[in-house]
Amino acid sequence: MIYKPKAFIRTFGCQMNVNDSEYIAGQLVKLGYLLTEDIFESNLILLNTCCVRAKVEQKIYSLIGKIKKIKENNSDVILGICGCMAQKEKENIFERVPYVDFIFNPSQVNNLEEIINTVKYGNTKYISCGDVPKFSLNHLPVKRESKISAWIQIMRGCNNYCSYCVVPYTRGPEQSRGVSEILSEVKNLAKNRYKEIYLLGQNVNSYGNDLSQPANFSKLLELLNDIKGIERIRFTTSHPKDFSFDLIKTIKNCHKVCNHIHLPIQSGSSKIIKMMNRNYDIDYYKSIIKEIRNNIDNIAISTDVMVGFPGETEDDFMDTLRTFKEIEFDEAYTFIYSDRENAIASLLPEQVPLQLKKERLWKLIDLQKKISAKINKKLEGEIFEVLVDKKSKKHIENQFSGRTRTNKTVVFISKRNLLGQLVKVKIIKSSPWTLYGELIE
Ligand code: SAH
Ligand code: SF4
Ligand code: F3S
Repeated sequence: MIYKPKAFIRTFGCQMNVNDSEYIAGQLVKLGYLLTEDIFESNLILLNTCCVRAKVEQKIYSLIGKIKKIKENNSDVILGICGCMAQKEKENIFERVPYVDFIFNPSQVNNLEEIINTVKYGNTKYISCGDVPKFSLNHLPVKRESKISAWIQIMRGCNNYCSYCVVPYTRGPEQSRGVSEILSEVKNLAKNRYKEIYLLGQNVNSYGNDLSQPANFSKLLELLNDIKGIERIRFTTSHPKDFSFDLIKTIKNCHKVCNHIHLPIQSGSSKIIKMMNRNYDIDYYKSIIKEIRNNIDNIAISTDVMVGFPGETEDDFMDTLRTFKEIEFDEAYTFIYSDRENAIASLLPEQVPLQLKKERLWKLIDLQKKISAKINKKLEGEIFEVLVDKKSKKHIENQFSGRTRTNKTVVFISKRNLLGQLVKVKIIKSSPWTLYGELIE
């Protein structure tokens, strides 16, 4: 039997990183590696990192600390750090943890073959944190985790410079992927029986602004909507300042585009949103929500929100609670503001004490839980189309789960293996996060 070296990849952060790891995995397999989930048997360890909040960065440094033992026991093991924290920290990583062998940033994912060969046959530490001139994933091997739903990066980077955010510094300026490259990838996925595509970008609404041939996000959705075999199209993230009426019309008219929109609000106080450099106010945000709800039937809306941004008073936080009660999001990802060195909000005075931030977070989570429970309760008795994407790994036999077009998780029992199929499920019970139903045969 031919000996194959083993590679272990651990991914932190957003879907963008998850998809980058799929490209990393694809290239490692091409290089002859076997992928393993057991870090102790691996020859190559790669951590694809995130640094959006301080906590995740601490967690990663602590994991690197634990890997020291593995390296001490086997000096042949190679340890690489990539992703956003690699770009933010660069050589600092070598200083803090000298046993790291190589570092590369998110734009170097395309060059992994070259990087690994240099690292394997060179004797020095290696760092590759330059920018690529053009964002393309053409011909890059990819090993996708799902055979049903595929992440598709349509752009990289961000030009928005929200005052709290590190992403523009880690992922660089916005770069859109060419329309024809995206279309040919999705056609290929359709041929391979993928049912759903999930378009990724930090701000998908500005897709195409940097392309030499004119393109925009609505047009891209229309073109993707025509691809046979693909049943569902999702996308994230949208920025309220660029959410156009044209896009609302497109979502309404393109039947494959799912009726779920993720529209981060970040705060319910216009004063705080201004300090965040987000370029909208609450009235404007609410007007978009109204427009969306008036035009698209049964639309689900989710959001991201932060508490404890510097200068957030009790009144500002009350504004957030009030706005949440008024809008009634289906779901919210709630975060405690975290200082990031590069981001200018870290220079603002009036930091909110951690204990107060935690109290605000719990109040907001508690409110959102009640809202989500109320919304989901109303769905009991209704029938939904569900794309089945998971079989329960727990002990419940024949349990499957999937998502509605509104992105709600539905759990149900089936004796037949329905993975990858679109089925009808009647909801019989609900919780704030999950719907439970009966399969309609
Ligand atoms: N591009 C997307 C998401 C970026 S990061 C957008 O614009 O919405 C995902 C979420 O992390 C953000 O929406 C924000 O709510 C949160 N986040 C970003 N920086 C943060 C920070 N410094 N502290 C706490 N949460 C942060
Ligand atoms: Fe960060 Fe703002 Fe860009 Fe989102 S839009 S990635 S929050 S700078
Ligand atoms: Fe984290 Fe980078 Fe994504 S900082 S959230 S992995 S863009």
